[in-house]
Amino acid sequence: MLNLVEPQHNAAHNVPAPVTLCRRDLKPGFGSEILNLDLPTADAATLAAVVDTFHRTGAILLRGQQMTPQDLLQFVRLFGQPEGHTLQEYTLPGFPEVYVLSNRVVNGKPIGAHNDGVVWHTDYSYREEPVMCTMLYAVEVPAEGADTLLADICAAYDALPEGQRRQLDRLIVHHSFRHFMESRVYGKAETSPELFAQNPDVFHPLIRRHPADGRKALWVSTGTVKGIVGMPEPQGSALVEELVEFATQERFVHRHKWQVGDVLMWDNRCTLHSGTLFDDTQYIREMHRLWVKGDKPY
Ligand code: SIN
Repeated sequence: MLNLVEPQHNAAHNVPAPVTLCRRDLKPGFGSEILNLDLPTADAATLAAVVDTFHRTGAILLRGQQMTPQDLLQFVRLFGQPEGHTLQEYTLPGFPEVYVLSNRVVNGKPIGAHNDGVVWHTDYSYREEPVMCTMLYAVEVPAEGADTLLADICAAYDALPEGQRRQLDRLIVHHSFRHFMESRVYGKAETSPELFAQNPDVFHPLIRRHPADGRKALWVSTGTVKGIVGMPEPQGSALVEELVEFATQERFVHRHKWQVGDVLMWDNRCTLHSGTLFDDTQYIREMHRLWVKGDKPY
């Protein structure tokens, strides 16, 4: 079923007439597939409606796009300033903001990071200012597997009993880049002491508010989380595990099945995501990933 959505606009300031996007939910109440739109040729008012839809619904999907790295950069800039990458080795030559995820090997050298995010997480949560959004563009995809999962963690927060929400509202989580690099199962890499020094531990609220409308998210993660401030171990980690399990139940999760030309973007302030495995002896996957700078969670 298609939904027609009109972005907000301000007639008093002579803003062009609002654009009506053709869209449908990715999952009831979460995310938007935007239909019949070619990003490189869309006009400014249409693109503004796309950005507005992203902020209100948590994720957007546009299928059948043909995007050069320059197009991807230009599009992502509508959402904010592109963020760089901690590990530089797999960025696209000439495009340090475009990171390649791939199992392709050229002249004996991998061109991208393989199985980079196969765990429930939110990007850059080990930084003071984690990235606001993540964009993936599908260049080549396997015939099966390698789906990307998105969990709607605002819906998860709302589904918690009120008493538990009140308790969780106060908690602060300890995130650590070192813990992340040392504990990861997929995509483990040698990490220099300089990189560890550049990424000291940070502390973020477990329950995060979305700046667009104040909605609250159960902003839990695996990988970077070392524990909960003031809670002894192993209770802190056990609570984190329990909350990740709660937030990633099927009822909160959208499973994205990739097609070449898909542009999928999600808002890291209100989602968790995870990659999934595929038969990498049979198939090649190549994705281009871009990030947009975020601000300090509150
Ligand atoms: C990511 O975690 O950024 C990548 C997810 C994926 O490759 O599906």
